[in-house]
Order: sequence, then structure tokens, then C-alpha cells
Amino acid sequence: MVSVIIPAAGQGRRMQAHHNKVFLMLAKEPILVHTLRQFAEVEDVGECIVVVGKGEEKETFELLKSASSVHSLPDCRIVTGGEERQDSVWNGLQVVSPDADIVLVHDAARPLVTPAIIGRVIRAARRTGGAVAAVPVKDTIKVAGDDGNVASTPDRSTLWAVQTPQGFQKDLLVRANEQAIADGFRGTDDASLVERLGMPVELSLGSYENIKITTPGDLIIAESFWKARQEADDIRVPEGRGLRA
Ligand code: CTP
Ligand code: MG
Repeated sequence: MVSVIIPAAGQGRRMQAHHNKVFLMLAKEPILVHTLRQFAEVEDVGECIVVVGKGEEKETFELLKSASSVHSLPDCRIVTGGEERQDSVWNGLQVVSPDADIVLVHDAARPLVTPAIIGRVIRAARRTGGAVAAVPVKDTIKVAGDDGNVASTPDRSTLWAVQTPQGFQKDLLVRANEQAIADGFRGTDDASLVERLGMPVELSLGSYENIKITTPGDLIIAESFWKARQEADDIRVPEGRGLRA
């Protein structure tokens, strides 16, 4: 069984919304609800743990209760987050079911993830032990030197921009977090904790649309992606429909 931890306990400072951005509306629905709906479509996902800020637990419970009367959502537990994302994931890990073999971590702030991306990460994590959704970078990346000048230009063909979901065998993710805590290591994603154990992490194809809503402009971009997706769904004729008079 796959358990998914959804870190949603940030403060959305770069969004400048003065409120946790995961509750902001995207196409008439809170970002968090969009995100959870995608996981409801993946059969392997048997458990969902939403990690929210201290004091946001009740609001989240009410939100998910009312959203689940309209949409299919996974069964979610609500857990209180920590200071940094890594602390929030750790808090979520504490309540993962003993039945889970794979744990996915997915940012609540990436509502444009799809069941196909989630499915690929699950399969890759089962195969390799760890996997991350990622896309080849489109820009040329420079490494800056201390003097503010370019120090080097890495070969772009080897560079990938990493997203979530990130998926791991449960015991590996627990061990990686325990080691990071023991060493005082802070990573910017979950995979970096696993990488420091010397364990392999597979790059699994994500999508350029699977953006993290970080700054106000990202919400506008996400709205257009969402609208385009809806329009594509509207013109797709379901099998058999419209064939009979
Ligand atoms: N997150 C979390 N706990 C924290 C910090 C972040 O669960 N202490 C979550 C966010 O809610 C988000 C994801 O981690 O879904 C990615 O973080 P980010 O995009 O940085 O969100 P915020 O921390 O909310 O934004 P900012 O850094 O601009 O304040
Ligand atoms: Mg943050």
C-alpha cells in the first residue's frame, strides 16, 4: 500500500497572501483540494496524511469534509507541521500506517500533478527504492562564484529540475530522515536525505505543468494550465458516447 504525505504547513511568504497559500482558490477550488483530487485517482494510494500549520487543523478538517461531499478525495489524516518543510514531513512520517511499503511526499502547492506522474513515481520507487518526478531544465544554468561572476556552466543535458511527488521505500525514508536529524542536515527536498545515504534515486518524468505555486504569477499560470486541461477534457468524447443515434 502507498501512503502519501502532503506537506501543507508553510506560510506562503513569497505568495504575499498573508495566509497559507494552499487555501487560496485556483479555478474556484482551494489549491489543497485540487492536489488531493489527483491522488484519489490512483488506486495504489491507500492513505493520505495532510500536514498543516498549527491552528489550521480544524479549518482543514472542515474544508476536506465539505470537499469530499462533491469530489472523490483520499482518506486523509490531519497532522500538525513543523518549522521547516523537512520537520513537517517528519511529523507526517510518524503516523504512516505499518501497512505502507512506499511513502510518497508531495507538496500541497503542486496542484497540477497528474495520476500518470504519480503512478510513474510509485513504479520507479518500487523498482529503485527512491524516485523523484523531474523534467530536463530548459534554461542554461550557471554556477556563480563568490565574486558574483560566472564560475562555470554545467552541461545542460545532465541537469534536471526536480519536482514532487518523491517516493521511497518507507524504511529508507525513515532512515534517511533519522540520519539527517542526527547530523543536523537540512535538505531542500526529500531525495537529498536519501542520496546522502548513498542510495539510488531514480529520475521519473514529471511535467512542465507540474509547477509549485510559489509567487503570485504562478497562480495565473496555473489557472491557464487548468483551463486548458478542462477544455481538452470537454472536447474528448468518451468511448461509445455520441455513436448511437
Ligand atoms: N511546507 C510545510 N511545512 C513548512 C514549510 C513548507 O509543510 N514548515 C510545505 C508548503 O505548505 C508547501 C511545500 O512545503 O506545500 C513547499 O514549500 P514552499 O513552496 O516553500 O511553501 P511555503 O513555505 O508556504 O512558501 P514560502 O517559502 O514562500 O513561505
Ligand atoms: Mg517555504
